[in-house]
Amino acid sequence: MDIQKVGVVGCGLMGSGIAQVAAMAGCQVVVHEVNDALLQKGFGRIHGSVAKLVEKAKLTSEQGESTKARLKGTTSLADLAPCDLIIEVIVENLDAKKKLFAELGKLCKQETIFASNTSSFPIGEMAEASGRPDRFVGLHFFNPVQLMKLVEVIQGAKSAPAVVEAARAFGAKVGKTPILAKDTPGFVVNRLLVPLLHEAVRMAERGDATFRDIDIGMELGCGHPMGPIKLLDYVGLDTTLSILDGWHQRYPKDPLFTPSELLKRMVKEGKLGRKSGKGFYEWEGDKVKG
Ligand SMILES: NC(=O)c1ccc[n+]([C@@H]2O[C@H](COP(=O)([O-])OP(=O)(O)OC[C@H]3O[C@@H](n4cnc5c(N)ncnc54)[C@H](O)[C@@H]3O)[C@@H](O)[C@H]2O)c1
Repeated sequence: MDIQKVGVVGCGLMGSGIAQVAAMAGCQVVVHEVNDALLQKGFGRIHGSVAKLVEKAKLTSEQGESTKARLKGTTSLADLAPCDLIIEVIVENLDAKKKLFAELGKLCKQETIFASNTSSFPIGEMAEASGRPDRFVGLHFFNPVQLMKLVEVIQGAKSAPAVVEAARAFGAKVGKTPILAKDTPGFVVNRLLVPLLHEAVRMAERGDATFRDIDIGMELGCGHPMGPIKLLDYVGLDTTLSILDGWHQRYPKDPLFTPSELLKRMVKEGKLGRKSGKGFYEWEGDKVKG
């Protein structure tokens, strides 16, 4: 199962990166967005990133041009029908994702493999909605896709081994190191990362240490490039809370997934971290103030 033609649904932050790395790896890529303006915006992001790679001599200008030529945009899902692999990268909303896969299941050729880039939803529910759970996997890329070397390949309960293998090979083809994970909350990375960030909030909430000292502790004591509270601010307190909320609803008895009062209160107050200019730290663009 060699994947040559790839569909990417959603050309936001992650979708534009995934479309770009697939095109750079030589795949023909069809990118779907809800309207032309968003398609143009997504292509603008891809072209800007390709231009930067050419400027830094990471790509020749010919490679840059051929990468761009392999990308086609569309607002019609029917144009994805002949793809070997379709990666869903739309907003993190389970109903929207299930609706999309139900439509794709009807439109696409029988062999098409479906993948979701979801960070927090179970693969299984989307796989059932697609009507072809054996040809469904998770392909979880990391932000920024062009730089981050990892992709998690999520094996649903009904994913066929050959489909998992094809998805793993695709991950390697686009220059990532694939790791395999079962369909459990957060897969590998977020299952460890989200509770770590949240435990740091609980520690600050109890007054065990200041949030600055918690960060210094993990930066100097564990060699983490960014302490957990700063990373939480960077990722977004709202994003982290919504992941925890989803897990808590599914597994209400697991105390690890119960959102803390401090996190809930800060989100309510609009202290979302970097994106709102204030979380635990004050932010100026991508940098902590002071
Ligand atoms: N941002 C991250 O760091 C990150 C990391 C890993 C995984 N993810 C996951 O990737 C997915 C996308 O996240 P993002 O940060 O790129 O979001 P985003 O908001 O930047 O992009 C989503 C895009 O999907 C489009 N879209 C929405 N509904 C659509 C539909 N029905 N058909 C086609 N396009 C549609 C939107 O117009 C938007 O451009 C989410 O599932 C998210 O959980 C995000």
